[in-house]
Amino acid sequence: MDGRLDGKVAIVTGAGTSDAGIGIGHAIAFVLSHHGASVLLVDKVAENATETQRAIEQDGGSAAAFVGDVANPTDCEAMVTAAVEQLGGLDILVNNAAITRHVPIVDTSVELFEEVIGVNLMGPFMACKFAIPALIDRGGGSIVNIGSVAGVRDTGTTHPAYCASKSGLLGLTVDLAGAYGRNNVRVNTVLPGMVSTPMQESIGRVDEETRARLNLLGRMGTAWDIAHAVHYLCSDEAAYLTGVTLPVDGGATVAMPASSFRAGQARGTDAQVTDAPVTDAQTSGAQASG
Ligand SMILES: NC(=O)c1ccc[n+]([C@@H]2O[C@H](COP(=O)([O-])OP(=O)(O)OC[C@H]3O[C@@H](n4cnc5c(N)ncnc54)[C@H](O)[C@@H]3O)[C@@H](O)[C@H]2O)c1
Repeated sequence: MDGRLDGKVAIVTGAGTSDAGIGIGHAIAFVLSHHGASVLLVDKVAENATETQRAIEQDGGSAAAFVGDVANPTDCEAMVTAAVEQLGGLDILVNNAAITRHVPIVDTSVELFEEVIGVNLMGPFMACKFAIPALIDRGGGSIVNIGSVAGVRDTGTTHPAYCASKSGLLGLTVDLAGAYGRNNVRVNTVLPGMVSTPMQESIGRVDEETRARLNLLGRMGTAWDIAHAVHYLCSDEAAYLTGVTLPVDGGATVAMPASSFRAGQARGTDAQVTDAPVTDAQTSGAQASG
C-alpha cells in the first residue's frame, strides 16, 4: 500500500466478483482500496459484492457492500447517500457495471435495446447526476467511465445495443468534463480491450490464443491491467487529465484485424491467424469482442 488514495472515498459499480472469475469491477475496487481508498461496492448480486468485500478486508482495506441496480434511479441516489453518510463523503466514482447481449439489430427488440442502454448508459448518467454535487462538496474528484473498444471500433462481432451504449459514454464524458472542470471534477473514460472476465468467458467465443493475436502485445488483458489504469486516473498524478479516452487494450485499437473475420478472409499478420478460428467463428457466430 502506498497510501496514494488515503482518505478518499470511492464508489465502484459492478464491483462484485463471482465463482466464475475476477471481474474488472472487483479488480478496480481492490486496487483503489489497496492504495488507501474506502470503497462502496455496488452490485446487483449481493454475494458478488460481499465476495469482493471479503477480499479487500483480507488485504487490510476498507469496503462496504451496497446491493443495488444501476438502472434504477432510486438505487443510484441511495448509493451516493450511502457513500456520504457511511464512508464520509465521495471523491471517486467508477461507472463499471454493464451487461452485453449479442443479438443482431434485426432481432433486437425495443425492450432488449432499452435494457442494455438502461444499465450501460442510463446507469452512469444517473450515478453522475447524483454523485457530482457530492464530489463538488469535497472540492473536486474523479469520475472514470468504463467504456469498451467496441464503442469506437468494429470488433468483428454484433452487439449493437452494447456498442451504442459504450459510444454514448464518450459523449457523456466530454460534456461532464467540460461542465465541471472548473469545479475540479475530472471525467475520463477507459476502453478495455478483450479482458478475461466472467462476462467475456460467458460469451464463449474464439479461444484465448486467437484473441491474443488481435492485439500488439500478444496476450489477453487481465482485470488488473484495467484496474491499474483506473487507479492512475483517480490519483493526484493524473490531476491535469480530463476528458480523455484511454484505451487499455494491448494496442488492439491500433491493430484491430478482427473485422476481417466478417468477410471470412483474415488479413492477419501471419498465416496462422488466417487459419483456425475463422470457420468456427463464422459457423457458430463466435467472434472477438471488446
Ligand atoms: N471483459 C471484457 O473483455 C471487457 C471489454 C471491454 C469492456 N468491458 C467493460 O468492463 C466492465 C466490466 O466488465 P466485466 O467483464 O468485468 O463484467 P462482469 O459481467 O464479469 O462483471 C460485471 C459485474 O456487474 C454486476 N452488474 C451487472 N449489471 C448490474 C446492474 N444493473 N447494477 C449493478 N451491478 C450490475 C454483475 O453482477 C457483475 O458482478 C463493463 O463495463 C464492460 O462493458 C469489458
